[in-house]
Amino acid sequence: MADALFTFIASVQGSEPWGSVLDAGTGAHSLEWVAGLATSRWTAVTADASAAERLRKDFAARMRPADRIIAGNWGDPLFLHADVHDVVLADYLLGAVDGFAPYLQDRLFGRLRPLVGQRLYVVGLEPYPGEAPHPWGQVILEIARLRDACILLAGHRTYREYPLDWTVRSLEESGYSVEEAKAFPIRYGPRFVNGQLDVCRSKLRYLCDRSLAKELERAIEDLRGRALALHEVHRGALFGEDYVVDARPRAG
Ligand SMILES: C[S@@+](CC[C@H](N)C(=O)[O-])C[C@H]1O[C@@H](n2cnc3c(N)ncnc32)[C@H](O)[C@@H]1O
Repeated sequence: MADALFTFIASVQGSEPWGSVLDAGTGAHSLEWVAGLATSRWTAVTADASAAERLRKDFAARMRPADRIIAGNWGDPLFLHADVHDVVLADYLLGAVDGFAPYLQDRLFGRLRPLVGQRLYVVGLEPYPGEAPHPWGQVILEIARLRDACILLAGHRTYREYPLDWTVRSLEESGYSVEEAKAFPIRYGPRFVNGQLDVCRSKLRYLCDRSLAKELERAIEDLRGRALALHEVHRGALFGEDYVVDARPRAG
């Protein structure tokens, strides 16, 4: 799915050169894409120092002298304050901010504004609805709730996603003009099911109540079995939406 989002961004960019690109919330997936573009240089930012270390190892062979992978936090007003990039990519950054700089969300795009030379592309996940119209959507909601419950019980912070209209409003109030916005229905599959339920499992070791952890482990594996079986029946079913927004800094 995310490849369709990057393909869309590339089509919006068209023949405009990429120049210098900032991946403002990096990870293996977005950096894989950015590193393959015809850029003059790229900078990838994560708030997680150990993730930065891993990415530096994984991308070592593909980094040119001016390419950088940096651990830093947009909540720090001095972080990269003098940097300007032709293109800034905020790929699922907004939803992750709550984990690293809670309550920064309404100031995030304003914080990035001086770094954006030409364009900011925002990729986000529309928050899930409270209810789903079909069993496949219902099981996706169950997975998301169990994931967040395990994260909270571990004493960690969950992601908080924002809807497309919130993002467009925030961009307009932060000195950008929104040129284009597009939603992409999501086709989740076993990779999502297993990935999210593995996150659940990874949180269990932080629980002091070991009998609760054991019961949750049983619930996780029960849900995995039901979700994977349901996927066989509902192959191709859509649930939820990602979105991409193309914004340009307004003059002045
Ligand atoms: C969901 S991940 C992004 C996924 C990534 N684009 C990929 O392809 O895998 C969110 C990223 O944003 C970073 N992030 C979240 N809040 C941040 C903040 N306040 N400052 C800097 N980076 C932040 C996280 O450290 C992480 O690298």
